Amino acid sequence: MSLIDEISKRRTFGIISHPDAGKTTLTEKLLLFGGAIQEAGAVKSNKIKKTATSDFMEIEKQRGISVATSVLAFYYKNKKINILDTPGHKDFAEDTYRTLTAVDSVIVVIDVAKGVEEQTEKLVQVCRMRNIPMIVFINKLDREGKDAFELLDEIEQKLGLNVAPLSFPIGMGSDFKGVYNIWEQKIKLYFGDSKQRIAESEEITGVDDPRLVELLDEETVTELKDNLELVEGVYNPFNQEEYLNGNLQPVFFGSALNNFGVQELLDCFVEIAPTPQPKEADVRVVYPDEPKMTGFVFKIHANLDPKHRDRLAFVKIVSGTFKRNTPYFHTRLKKNFKFSSPNTFFAQKKQVVDESFPGDIVGLHDTGNFKIGDTFTEGEMLQFKGIPNFSPEHFRYINNADPMKSKQLAKGIDQLMDEGVAQLFTLDLNGRKVIGTVGALQYDVIQYRLEHEYGAKCTYEPLNVYKAFWVEPEDENNAEYKDFKRVKQRYLAKDKYGKQVFLADSPFSYEMTKTKYPSVKLHEKSEF
Ligand code: G4P
Repeated sequence: MSLIDEISKRRTFGIISHPDAGKTTLTEKLLLFGGAIQEAGAVKSNKIKKTATSDFMEIEKQRGISVATSVLAFYYKNKKINILDTPGHKDFAEDTYRTLTAVDSVIVVIDVAKGVEEQTEKLVQVCRMRNIPMIVFINKLDREGKDAFELLDEIEQKLGLNVAPLSFPIGMGSDFKGVYNIWEQKIKLYFGDSKQRIAESEEITGVDDPRLVELLDEETVTELKDNLELVEGVYNPFNQEEYLNGNLQPVFFGSALNNFGVQELLDCFVEIAPTPQPKEADVRVVYPDEPKMTGFVFKIHANLDPKHRDRLAFVKIVSGTFKRNTPYFHTRLKKNFKFSSPNTFFAQKKQVVDESFPGDIVGLHDTGNFKIGDTFTEGEMLQFKGIPNFSPEHFRYINNADPMKSKQLAKGIDQLMDEGVAQLFTLDLNGRKVIGTVGALQYDVIQYRLEHEYGAKCTYEPLNVYKAFWVEPEDENNAEYKDFKRVKQRYLAKDKYGKQVFLADSPFSYEMTKTKYPSVKLHEKSEF
């Protein structure tokens, strides 16, 4: 098969949601359709149980298992579908942000009763920034929830989306009767009460099918017709180009648990979702059909075997064909690497792969050389963009608790930061090290891993920082920037890559600094 054919077959996407909306259940049902798993309940391991929030060891253990579910691939209608796992747990939000740099589209799952929740809002914001095509799946229709129109309004307002319903529910909760499929102009009816797990559904040709009145009642049919009229009148019709540009988001309704509305979602997805997309690098844009291989590391999974510090770097192939035992150029280290056993992922199995294509993810074994964002090419000097660091939400000084082990501590911190566990800042004033994290739990994880994997001990000290801002001066030599550096010296630090960062201690101080030094730009992420 030609490279173009391989590319046109691939769909690489992520499912995002607030915890408990039904991401795991939906993933599982999609895999069932693809024949990749045979029974429900097989994908549970990619979920960090909510009961474990205070037990970081348990969470790490579960994350360890989740290497198998980092990428779930299956075939459906002759398409190769790669689902990239995005952890829902708040403390691992950075992992999810980074995974979003490797997807070509996303499905957003929303709980019909809870509506738009905090985590969904944050993740959708990141997707919107990057114009990632999104499909919305409103889940748990077998339960009482919000009115469909109210929910669509909420999605438009809170998430800033422009929705195009491609299905519409008939009733809800105990009164849930089915879904009208606007995309295919069909109806699927739902039998069985909400306590029953497997629902049988019956297909009907359209809203004017006379059998409908027999199966539903007249009142319900009239209401459905009214609703569909309203949908047509109020919302934009579906337009694939607008969806692909990130300007329009199709919406489906269903119940993942009951496997209702899922196939409709999948059938539409394989038809409209984007094939692997071009990606911007520092010197040019790279297109998937270029013959030469390029790819980038978006995730590093460590701790497969704590004794060996074995790591698996997940690389998304952007262009060309990736081949086993072929030297590839690592553009940051300016060095060639050859991989004798690159892994591919199929369903929940890892296997050695000879060839991979754009859109695919390969797992490369690494002994500590690679960092998130690293680029591989066939010799060209380029670095993919779009894998920024976001400001952490928690900050603490890190101290060495065992002076005999300072080398081990430095190495441990260095490698954990490469994995993207947290961010390290070094204060300009006195060289003290500050660890910034998205979730407070990460401090325990770091302390534990430093001790068990590197034999180093650390303690933390509180530090009052509101947010980190990456500094972009208009001119490094102008008087205003010099004044900024002198006055704010106490709050300045370098990130791991030596970039200048301003650690604002309050929103007020951030605002004041912006006003006082208008030529010094302060960014909330490391790429600008
Ligand atoms: P997550 O990955 O987004 O965190 O959510 P997950 O799929 O684990 O679903 C969260 C809970 O919601 C699960 O129940 C799941 O069974 C339930 N659920 C998912 N889809 C539906 C649906 O369409 N209808 C209904 N009624 N429930 C749904 P749990 O009790 O937390 O877990 P479990 O004990 O059932 O595994």
